[in-house]
Amino acid sequence: MSAIESVLVENRVFPPSEAIVKAARISGMPAYEALCKEAEQDFEGFWARLARENVVWNKPFTKTLDESKAPFYKWFEDGELNASANCLDKHIGTPTENKTAIVFESDDGTVTRISYKELLAKVSRFANALKAQGIKKGDRVLVYMPMGVEGVVAMQACARIGATHSVVFGGFSAKSVQERIIDAGAVAVITANFQMRGGKELGLKSIIDEALAMGGCDTLKSVLVYMRTATPCNMVAGRDKTFDEALAGQSDECKPEPVGAEHPLFILYTSGSTGKPKGVQHSTGGYLLWAKLTMDWTFDIRPEDLFWCTADIGWITGHTYVCYGPLAAGATQLIFEGIPTFPHAGRFWQMIEKHKVSIFYTAPTAIRSLIKAAETDEKVHPKNWDLSSLRILGTVGEPINPEAWMWYHRNVGGERCPIVDTFWQTETGGHVITPLPGATPTVPGSCTLPLPGIMAAIVDEAGKDIPNGSGGMLVIKRPWPSMIRTIWGDPERFKKSYFPEEMGGKLYLAGDGAVRNADNAYFRITGRIDDVLNVSGHRLGTMEIESALVSKTDLVAEAAVVGRPDDLTGEAVCAFVVLKRSRPTGEEAKQIANELRNWVAKEIGPIAKPKDIRFGDNLPKTRSGKIMRRLLRSIAKGEAITQDITTLENPAILEQLAEKL
Ligand code: WT7
Repeated sequence: MSAIESVLVENRVFPPSEAIVKAARISGMPAYEALCKEAEQDFEGFWARLARENVVWNKPFTKTLDESKAPFYKWFEDGELNASANCLDKHIGTPTENKTAIVFESDDGTVTRISYKELLAKVSRFANALKAQGIKKGDRVLVYMPMGVEGVVAMQACARIGATHSVVFGGFSAKSVQERIIDAGAVAVITANFQMRGGKELGLKSIIDEALAMGGCDTLKSVLVYMRTATPCNMVAGRDKTFDEALAGQSDECKPEPVGAEHPLFILYTSGSTGKPKGVQHSTGGYLLWAKLTMDWTFDIRPEDLFWCTADIGWITGHTYVCYGPLAAGATQLIFEGIPTFPHAGRFWQMIEKHKVSIFYTAPTAIRSLIKAAETDEKVHPKNWDLSSLRILGTVGEPINPEAWMWYHRNVGGERCPIVDTFWQTETGGHVITPLPGATPTVPGSCTLPLPGIMAAIVDEAGKDIPNGSGGMLVIKRPWPSMIRTIWGDPERFKKSYFPEEMGGKLYLAGDGAVRNADNAYFRITGRIDDVLNVSGHRLGTMEIESALVSKTDLVAEAAVVGRPDDLTGEAVCAFVVLKRSRPTGEEAKQIANELRNWVAKEIGPIAKPKDIRFGDNLPKTRSGKIMRRLLRSIAKGEAITQDITTLENPAILEQLAEKL
């Protein structure tokens, strides 16, 4: 039975225990339903109440939602706040001020702790250093940092002075960094000399140097470098400063700059259907509200919890559930610098035991790889560690196959921890469809029901509702506070991508296919409906990879990229390539394939490397010259071709493309 079929017949239901329900903030389904009803009956009143209760405003808002320029929605627009003050200053003078904000475990296992008070001082001092560099409210700052306290400090410091951060994941290439600096018009880069991963020192500053050497980054004035290790790195006089140099003499007090609720807190680039990544722009007020509230609702966070989200700050999950949510909630969180398989694949379980983690939030791809490791080596099986501190488990990033869900439930959650399978996106800012741990009965492979106030639905191509039990496109019918505001510098693309005219221009189109169960209306995400792949929970545009391949102009004539299912990474990148020279075979084909993989890694980043590369004299095209991608998807899967290929110009090449290297 394939994964999709087994999801279709999934009928195991796991209700939370009575004790869990009793203790939870949203206690039982009636409590959830009451909140949904409140949102339906008085939509604006509902959000206004939550925004007043969960956000500290310097100036209260008087208008909740402005729809006059839809889909450019505005929330709490005349209100003023500061995100960093909502994460740090808010706790000063409360018992939280001396509580540990961050427990940091480095790659080599060294543990350090920082309290809320200390974190505030550190962020303030860094904010002063940014100001001393001439960085001010409204400026964009690119953050290219390893996982650690300093990365969070950099983001919080930007927020504190009203600068808009744009974090780029440390695995992205120099070219990607350069494009993002130019697109955002960044005035500064915050980076580190190296990052430590799996016992290895990997250059970060060298990539920034390379990006800047490519030219075009005319807005950039300064580069601040955190010396993560003792190894020196290249420093350009007048442009580059170490943290120590930048922080020297700076006070550890800095008044947070109040900004309007719609002020862009950050831009985060993500892949879309076309070649160019989209700078997803988020607000300050609405975003922060949802970061805080979903900590309360989805994770039912409590003062005594030890929260661990394993995501990197380079992704939206690391923004909302590392940098902002846990701090706004006054929680203690664990931040881990390294990788799950170093020094052994039991590292996550060992860390859960060591730090007594109570809420653990990770990606299905990590679970799948740790299952595989535990199956081949008993010594790294979670049963070797005491995981009794856990009370809630979460997953995010891609659909979780029921087999992995059950393993997580049994071997990590000890059959007692609710699993929240949280569906959301860079664009949604925070969870939108997810179980609530003390209310929703869970079903393996289903993200269950929308959070209160999120009007999720399934529609057809014309935007018409589709009945439960049939598949369609996932949309959200009403705006919500933490939604994407625009694509940085490209409002037309924002409208076209997310609010297509064909569907009436009012529905937020998520880009995923989904189906609601006929009995309980639970949602199940069936995967992207656009040319976006999800590899290990990372979003990649097929067009982006195609452009990278054809930019190797000495070698590549044409390329088409599709995804195929993969047991470990969810989806894998499969590239079909036509070379400018004759079609290679045997060893030579392998060697050229490797060259192309390394090229893609250099152009985009190692995560975009095609797993499979197939060479052909041509690509399958219709008589009008359109590449038949559906056919390529079948070939990539190794399926027999059942499609009608009568319109195909050149059927003979199918055999070539089916040939594995
Ligand atoms: C895409 C968004 C949300 C933070 C990490 C990814 C897929 C995400 C789930 C889930 C099924 C999921 C969707 C979505 N996705 N969570 N629980 N079940 N699919 O953020 O990079 O913006 O990717 O990830 O396809 O559209 P992202």
